[in-house]
Amino acid sequence: MNRKSELIRLIELPKIEDDCNLFYAESKNHIPFLIKRIYYITNANTKLNRGYHAHLKNQQILFCINGSITIVLDNGSKKERVKLKATGIGLFIDKMIWHEMIDFQKDTILLILASMIFDEKDYIRDYEKFKKEANKIP
Ligand code: TYD
Repeated sequence: MNRKSELIRLIELPKIEDDCNLFYAESKNHIPFLIKRIYYITNANTKLNRGYHAHLKNQQILFCINGSITIVLDNGSKKERVKLKATGIGLFIDKMIWHEMIDFQKDTILLILASMIFDEKDYIRDYEKFKKEANKIP
């Protein structure tokens, strides 16, 4: 994982180790927004990729809590990729970042924390439209 990257912002959660690994996250202390929604993805088709959108306002942190996943991030002028494995390390996906989730494994489980409740109007699902909007950002 590349911690020096400008697009890839990783968040390492505190971990308690006793007879298990226990990770925890609190809004503000570890997550840079108030968590309004969580969702998780299991049993994804390993032949298909997911994502292919950006959000106008929603910010997210994605944890791969089992298996592995590769995330491609794109700010309209630069693309970077990062592989996440089951750990307490989350990937911050800011608003206006086009993201793609590739290389799902059979056992991959993704847990996502989001700053907004679901709103389809917050999605940009057209890549050309995204690029146009992203390039207006100073
Ligand atoms: P989408 O965000 O496109 O999934 P992914 O990022 O994994 O490709 O969502 C897939 C579908 O699920 C889409 O029809 C919207 C719906 N959905 C909700 O209703 N609520 C949610 O919180 C999320 C994340 C998705």
